Amino acid sequence: MNEQSAADAAPQAPVPRVPALSVRDLRKTYAGNSAQTRVEALKGVSLDVEQGDFFALLGPNGAGKSTLIGIVSSLVNLSGGSVEVFGTDLSRDREASMRLIGLVPQELNFNMFEKPLDILVNYAGFYGIPRAEALVRAEQELRRAQLWDKARMMSRTLSGGMKRRLMIARAMMTRPRLLILDEPTAGVDIEIRRGMWQTLREINAAGTTIILTTHYLEEAESLCRNLAIIDRGSIVAAGPMKALLARLDVEGFLFDIDGTLPARLPAIEGTSIVATDDHTLDVEMPRSMDLNRVFAALGEAGIRVRSMRTKSNRLEELFVRMTGENAVDSAAGSTAQVAPEPTA
Ligand SMILES: Nc1ncnc2c1ncn2[C@@H]1O[C@H](COP(=O)(O)OP(=O)(O)O)[C@@H](O)[C@H]1O
Ligand SMILES: [Mg+2]
Repeated sequence: MNEQSAADAAPQAPVPRVPALSVRDLRKTYAGNSAQTRVEALKGVSLDVEQGDFFALLGPNGAGKSTLIGIVSSLVNLSGGSVEVFGTDLSRDREASMRLIGLVPQELNFNMFEKPLDILVNYAGFYGIPRAEALVRAEQELRRAQLWDKARMMSRTLSGGMKRRLMIARAMMTRPRLLILDEPTAGVDIEIRRGMWQTLREINAAGTTIILTTHYLEEAESLCRNLAIIDRGSIVAAGPMKALLARLDVEGFLFDIDGTLPARLPAIEGTSIVATDDHTLDVEMPRSMDLNRVFAALGEAGIRVRSMRTKSNRLEELFVRMTGENAVDSAAGSTAQVAPEPTA
């Protein structure tokens, strides 16, 4: 039997693919000038991003998103933990990891006095890609970014949305298997944002794993299959987008009951009612449901509610904070940016 037929004859469970990104117990402390200015930006973050995924790292300003991205793309030194990119340990083989990653930083950082075609070809040259090949790729990328007709114009004259797409086209020149974008649409208006989402969807559909950081829930919701939510240097939730939205859609209450509870509690479709002790009920219900329905059902069962309080939901609190900060952001017309870490 030759190798081919042996493989055909013995179907095996699919070999689990290594994650595109695997982060374990990642820590980062920025050493300030004193103990007071030391910042623990990452406090033991772990996450996995599967190959082919479109993954969002969602969190408010200062959560640690850029620090995480910076470490993964070798711009920031880690203080503890490990990072693997397609199975390659970052600290063991930094160059190999870097070759697999394309990075789109938040700030526009190309030369405004160069032409898009030159920006792309020169960037490829920096990565050792021969000029002839770079020209072929540049045309492909500029076409995908709908910038081919602008290839020989001064970049300065491009619109805001075009400049953003140029950043993505440039990162794609090295054919990265993992494209990482740090707040690609922060401070960008909604039309431009939608256009960029389309470009990113196409890149992901063509097989590139994408990770983006954002503080817009709407953006993560529209683009991503999986996400992790980071707040103050820790992951507070992770998993499929749909599961997370379902969690946000549930409201929780604690009811204080007059007298003692009956042995059998009423069942109300779509809600969960659990006695936590003789005179307390833990109630979870969809946000859209009328509380009076719950009171009525309890009343029929002879249960009188004396008082109630809402159960705090960390996830919800986080989103309230994020939305609050967005409001401040757009009012001020500015976006917070990270200063580059001084090189050690
Ligand atoms: N170069 C730096 N030096 C000192 N502190 C920093 C530096 N970069 C970020 N920080 C601090 O680390 C925390 C996380 O920042 P960052 O990773 O930029 O968050 P995000 O990208 O989610 O807004 C913040 O408190 C920020 O002030
Ligand atoms: Mg940031």
